[in-house]
Parts: sequence; C-alpha cells; structure tokens
Amino acid sequence: MQVYRKTNDMRQKKLWGGRFTKQTAASVESFTESISFDWRLYKYDIEGSITHAVMLAKCKLITEKEKDTIVKGLKGILSDILAEKFEFKKSLEDIHMNIESVLIDRIGEVGKKLHTARSRNDQIALDLRLWTRDQTQQTIKLLVMLQREFVKKAKNYLSFIMPGFTHLQHAQPVLVSHYLLAYIEMFERDKTRLQDCFIRLNKSPLGACALAGTTLQTDSMLTAKLLGFKGICENSMDAVSDRDFCVEYSFCLSTIAMHLSRFCEEWIIWCNDEFKFIEISDDYCTGSSIMPQKKNPDVLELIRGKCGRVFGHLVSLLTLLKGLPLTYNRDMQEDKIALFDATDTVQASLSILTELVTNTHFNKERMMLACEKGFIDATALAEYLVKKGLPFRKAHEIVGNIVRECIRVHCTLMDLKLEGFKAFSSIIEKDVYKVLGVENCIKNYKSYGSTAPGFVKKRIAYWEKKLSDNSVPKYAN
Ligand code: ARG
Repeated sequence: MQVYRKTNDMRQKKLWGGRFTKQTAASVESFTESISFDWRLYKYDIEGSITHAVMLAKCKLITEKEKDTIVKGLKGILSDILAEKFEFKKSLEDIHMNIESVLIDRIGEVGKKLHTARSRNDQIALDLRLWTRDQTQQTIKLLVMLQREFVKKAKNYLSFIMPGFTHLQHAQPVLVSHYLLAYIEMFERDKTRLQDCFIRLNKSPLGACALAGTTLQTDSMLTAKLLGFKGICENSMDAVSDRDFCVEYSFCLSTIAMHLSRFCEEWIIWCNDEFKFIEISDDYCTGSSIMPQKKNPDVLELIRGKCGRVFGHLVSLLTLLKGLPLTYNRDMQEDKIALFDATDTVQASLSILTELVTNTHFNKERMMLACEKGFIDATALAEYLVKKGLPFRKAHEIVGNIVRECIRVHCTLMDLKLEGFKAFSSIIEKDVYKVLGVENCIKNYKSYGSTAPGFVKKRIAYWEKKLSDNSVPKYAN
C-alpha cells in the first residue's frame, strides 16, 4: 500500500498565494497539513477531477482538447502514485493541492483550468463520500465472510448443547447452533444499517463550489450521474458542510465493534480453565514471557480493547461538528483521522475474527457437563405443570420449592424419585421424566425463533442460501 513518506521538500508558492505578502511559516505549514493522512483519498480525488473536467468540456468551459490533456495528466499522476513514484509534499498542504500542483507542473497552463467552478470545499466533500461509499461496501463484504463462518459452525455443531445464560448464570439449555445464529442476526442488522447509511451518503456534493454555487453554467447532474450517485445534494451550503454521513457511518462501525466486543468477551470466558467450552487453535493464541504454561486469547482481547477507539472516533466526530457554523470550517479536516482509523480498526477486527472462528473448536463434553449444573431444566418442569392445568405462578412456586429441596439433598431434578415430586404436587406423574434433562428440554421447545432443533435447522438452511455467492446482493447499486 502506498504510504505517505516524509520528505524535506522545499517550501513553495501556494496555489492560493496571490493575496499574501509573506510565505507561510513553516510551523503553520506543518500544523495545517493533511497530506500525511488524506493521501489515501488520491484515487477518489483523481476520479472526481476527471469527471469534473469531462463536465467542464460538455459545458464548453474548456475545450475537448484541453479536457483530454487534463485527463491524460491526471491518469499519469494516478499511475505514478500506484507505482509509488509520486512524492506527496507537506508544503502542498493536502491531497487536492498535491495533485493539482503536479498536474500544472506537468501539463502547464491548461492545468490551471481544472479548478474552474470548483472549490476544495466541494472537492473534499466529494472525495470523502466516494471513499466512504466504497468502505461501506467493503465492510459489508467482511461481515458476510464472518457470517458464513458462523453458519458453517452452526451446521457442524448441530448436536451440541450448551447452557444458555442470563446474568451470566445458567438459565436454560440451548443448541450451540442457536447461539451462533444469534450473532448472524446481529451482523445482518449491521449490514442493513450500512446499507441505510449508503443510501443517504450516495448523493453528490460536487458543484456546490465554496458554498454558494457558481455564476458559470455547469452541470452537477452530469457529474453526479457519471460518478454513480443517486442524486445530488440539493443545497450548496449543506453540501459543503454536511458530515452527517461520517457520523452515521461511524455509528455503524461502533455498533459492529460493540457486537464483536460482546462476542470476544464471551469467548475469552469460554476458553479459560473453568469453562473450557472452546479451544482456540495454537496459531491464533499468544504466550506469556514469564509463565511457560500460558496460552492467551490476545486476539479476542484486542478486538474488545480496540472497540474503545472506535467509540472514541464517533464521539470525536460529533464533538467536532457540534459547534460549527455553516458552512465549511477547517476543523472538518480532522474528520478523516477519525473515519480512517475507525474503518481500519473494524475491518481488521472483522478479518482476524473470521480466521479465529474458523480455527476454534467447541468441546461437546464440557458444555454438556456444564448443563448438568444449575437446574437448567427447572423452567421446563414449571411448563409441564402448566400443561397439567396449574397457573404459571403456582407452578413456578412449586418448582422453586422442589429446587430448594434438591439443593438441600445435593441432587438434580432428574435424580428425584416420583414420590419426591409428589410430596410437592400430586399432579406430577411418571411422564415428568420426559421433560427433565437437557436433551428432553431441547426436544420439547416449540415456539417460533426458539432453539427447537427443527427451527434451528431451517434457519441454517435460510442463511446458507442467503449468504451463498449468488445471493449476496451487490450493495453498491
Ligand atoms: N484539507 C482540507 C480538509 O480536509 C480540504 C479542504 C480545504 N478547504 C479550505 N477551504 N481550506 O478539509
């Protein structure tokens, strides 16, 4: 990947230097530059400039020949950047100035026509929308890949039962597959949230110029269409000052990070010696520099930890914008730092987690053993009494009393003899043993969306189809 390289470039006259009597102070140049991070927008900046030049020619503001020269110059710059032969200079402030200055150096006077009817204000708004548009798609793709791993696991582990938890205490037994499918639902919401965000951000701000538009006859509809936008920003002042899409996109990223963090927290607990529900492959764990026996889930911990950075960026963006009067203010330059790092962090977390999930195995025996503790069939017993005609509250109380007795005599519900049950309720019969025990519990679930094996199997089939190569929609359209 092309990275910004620090150079000792000579300070040079600014493209905006006409009204100034003094050269910018070196300290100001270094404080105000953004090329050290906005170089990443080069592809979008060039794409936007080429489209702008095409529009200028269509509107007869430049000739076809001038347009061709500009486009050729811009394409040359793009290939130089890709070949790492282009030198980004701090003295040229940002990505827009770096590209435009070199263009003028290379093609001469005609290069000075490119900025006709355009300002860096609509230019950066455009570049950032184009970049974010691509990143929403990239993030969706990574979510799909993670979901596919979860479905594969859900299919493999259909016969595995684990204790479901509330308050991190044993609650009711569930299929491991059902547990995994819960995360697929979360990731699906994450995808639709990004799609929603995409719809609002997919509008072109190009043509707003500095803030008020232009007295020249231009065609913003044309540039919007050529860049694949579904419409344009209707108000030029809003177009250059709107960063709602950055906030929304960061919120989408924060929600993904929060989901990943919850998952990681769970697996960190599950891989310790007390639980041992899962075993992460050695190549996805790390060791301790002092304790030779240690095998630590650092990847999971780091994903959980990085979540804080992502939330921080969302708060940074909101705080950045809250005091800004219309329209463009230089403060907005900071938006990219937040947006880029939040994106990099979430995308890296999604990729590594997908690998880690593939390389983790569940321990059927440990999960089953855990199910034997905590009376997780007590709710099934209460529902058995309801089926025999008792009001639920009454049934709840009776089962509570039975559990208390089992705790006293150190046995499970299953261990209790029929006479033992009868001492609490005469309506309990031999058939009670058909509802007790984890396997019976699982078999007997009936409600929609429950962990009933039939329902879980159907849902796995649904996700397999939905996430298959042919069925994943091309979100960009
Ligand atoms: N580097 C600037 C930013 O990221 C680009 C726009 C500069 N516009 C201006 N009027 N100084 O926001």
